Amino acid sequence: CCYRMARGAWAAVFLLLGSVVDPCSSQTYALNDKAGLGRVFDGIGGLSGGGATSRLLVNYAEPYRSQILDYLFKPNFGASLHILKVEIGGDSQTTDGTEPSHMHYESDENYFRGYEWWLMKEAKRRNPNVTLIGLPWAFPGWVGHGKNWPYDFPDITAAYVVNWILGAKQYHDLDIQYVGIWNERNFDSKYIKLLRYTLDKNGLEGVRIIASDNLWEPITLYLLLDPELGRAVDVIGAHYPGTTTVKEAVKTQKKLWSSEDYSTFNDEVGGGCWARILNQNYVNGNMTATISWNLVASYYEDLPFGRDGLMTAEEPWSGNYVVESPIWITAHTTQFTQPGWTYLQTVGHLAQGGSYVALTDGTGNLTVVIETMTHDHSVCIRPPLPPFNVTSQNATFQLQGSFASIKELQVWRSQFNFKTKKPSFFEKLTPLKLVDGSFTLNLAEDEVYTLTTITTGQKGSYPDPPPSARFPKVYKDNFDIRNPPFSEAPDFADQTGVFEYYINLTDPGPHVFTLRQVLTERPVTWAADADQTISVIGDYQWHDLTVTCDVFMESVKTGGVFIAARVDKGGQSIRSANGVFFWVFADGTYKVTNDLAGQTVLAEGQSGTRAYGWHTLSLTVKGQYALGQLNGYPLWKNAVVLTPKNGWAAIGTRSFELAQFDNFAVVAG
Ligand SMILES: *[C@@H]1O[C@H](CO)[C@@H](O)[C@H](O)[C@H]1NC(C)=O
Ligand SMILES: *[C@@H]1O[C@H](CO)[C@@H](O)[C@H](O)[C@H]1NC(C)=O
Ligand SMILES: *[C@@H]1O[C@H](CO)[C@@H](O)[C@H](O)[C@H]1NC(C)=O
Ligand SMILES: *[C@@H]1O[C@H](CO)[C@@H](O)[C@H](O)[C@H]1NC(C)=O
Ligand SMILES: *[C@@H]1O[C@H](CO)[C@@H](O)[C@H](O)[C@H]1NC(C)=O
Ligand SMILES: *[C@@H]1O[C@H](CO)[C@@H](O)[C@H](O)[C@H]1NC(C)=O
Repeated sequence: CCYRMARGAWAAVFLLLGSVVDPCSSQTYALNDKAGLGRVFDGIGGLSGGGATSRLLVNYAEPYRSQILDYLFKPNFGASLHILKVEIGGDSQTTDGTEPSHMHYESDENYFRGYEWWLMKEAKRRNPNVTLIGLPWAFPGWVGHGKNWPYDFPDITAAYVVNWILGAKQYHDLDIQYVGIWNERNFDSKYIKLLRYTLDKNGLEGVRIIASDNLWEPITLYLLLDPELGRAVDVIGAHYPGTTTVKEAVKTQKKLWSSEDYSTFNDEVGGGCWARILNQNYVNGNMTATISWNLVASYYEDLPFGRDGLMTAEEPWSGNYVVESPIWITAHTTQFTQPGWTYLQTVGHLAQGGSYVALTDGTGNLTVVIETMTHDHSVCIRPPLPPFNVTSQNATFQLQGSFASIKELQVWRSQFNFKTKKPSFFEKLTPLKLVDGSFTLNLAEDEVYTLTTITTGQKGSYPDPPPSARFPKVYKDNFDIRNPPFSEAPDFADQTGVFEYYINLTDPGPHVFTLRQVLTERPVTWAADADQTISVIGDYQWHDLTVTCDVFMESVKTGGVFIAARVDKGGQSIRSANGVFFWVFADGTYKVTNDLAGQTVLAEGQSGTRAYGWHTLSLTVKGQYALGQLNGYPLWKNAVVLTPKNGWAAIGTRSFELAQFDNFAVVAG
């Protein structure tokens, strides 16, 4: 830079800046709105679902549950998220579990299942402006009429999705602002147009459509070629775009969003990933919203993608939760902007690596976010990150246009400090006094800065939550005490099928309140759901234990239920789960298998079990041996179990069939 100006001139600038920074070693970046602005900012968000990622959150006791929600949604406190995207439950496995549908059967409607309604209300209670988005991953079987495909009867699928949006308003006063098509699966132009038509017909003209929650292509090409489709879709949502877009997407003139991103283990490198993409999704890819999968890691850590959330809350039994670095990285942008602000055109890369964005509210406020994340400290789970270099640098920012007269900026800084392992996140520094609209920063590697006219930023905090603890070794649930606003029993994580509280008021005995598997047909799936239903619970490290449960089959001919120990897989791998499975069938037989699929039989014989009667099953696994009891009497013993060595406890059914469970208990060694 020194070549271009005489030494004397630099001395003058030096004086003017009143800065100790040697201008020769500083690059200057203008922040200017004179030539117009960039795109409108739509916010930063988190995704609950896809699937069952908030499962354990609802079981936290107060005050911890509210504290976690505050760190996520409360304005000027923590992540202060602008957007909450949720899964429209489709009864099917969608990564870490299943989420219940509002219509299990064609004639069924219930808008109180699961926890997404509750979560949306909690988010809105904290931030009335939070943007709400719904997206289906899967659909109940009846929507597909027996085919694993939701578009053969597009009017049925559209009506099903629109019901969910109407239900949100009618039962929870929630205004869903955006709705998607079918997560990371094919879209169908006819369906999208019909969805638009159905929304409009139901007075939901304001609900915008995002398509297609997959790659940029092929939706962009369809949008360019089909004007009617172009009118139906408002936002192109791409997943894991690696901060870039394609020129056809820009050509559509649609809003471009990274509608699912991050999905990275939430340690400091995860925070680095998030810092880099939050800026660079706009700088490189014109994206005006970025949504993290997932919102909060609130599922058993041994399920797929453990801890890939903005924070960790996976121990409702202890109350322990961890506010991880992505929360504070989010705050750098969210606390000092709002959806509806506009990016400046003057955004870009820093000379020695890193990036800067600037946004304005149009009334003179300015927020600048700068990140200098190095390659190895900002790798996301996907896509692969091409090499780049970042070194420490001095950067001078020159405020011009409407911002030229700004006299002071608030300064917030995060330093990852990978070398010393003593990071500091979202620290408020002394406000910067500007001389002549200019300021210089001495940027080290792996830092994030916010400079802003907004003075309301705050690093919220609560006293430390209780220490981490393992799942209790003795656990009982008779399902009599209901978990008030929820349809599912605490800590059970459905991996195929849906297990819900059930009340049988005609039962004269002890089984009025039970847990019932309610699916009667295979859903239109997103992942490879098992052919059996299964809900897991407990500590993945459990090896020696006794599981006891009362069971009640409701399929006279084909009924079958099981209890299990050492279940070693869940999520998308549920089909291949191994463990010790003790089954009884309505035809009066029993079986012990080493796998959920029931292929490896360890023992079998007569049990006298039948449908429409309660039976008590008990399974004990100790070292290499397992034994089972029926109604308190030994039924089989000395089954040899070499693998797996550990895993969750579980309950389930032989097929998609109604069955009930009661008085579940585990005693682990
Ligand atoms: C930044 O400026 C300071 C002093 O103004 C100088 O000592 C330092 O070498 C500069 N750093 C870089 C990376 O140029
Ligand atoms: C919600 O948005 C309105 C209008 O933009 C704004 O005045 C208000 O402060 C916002 N409320 C919160 C809690 O962010
Ligand atoms: C898209 O981003 C590129 C790269 O930053 C930029 O040059 C271009 O102006 C942007 N276009 C639109 C329409 O936002
Ligand atoms: C900036 O935003 C605040 C509210 O956060 C508002 O009071 C103020 O008028 C805005 N404009 C300027 C130039 O600060
Ligand atoms: C990064 O720096 C190293 C060492 O100076 C150099 O060899 C390499 O080519 C650089 N990589 C990139 C992507 O610029
Ligand atoms: C409800 O309880 C009654 C009385 O025990 C029993 O006959 C009936 O099968 C039960 N129904 C269901 C669906 O559990």
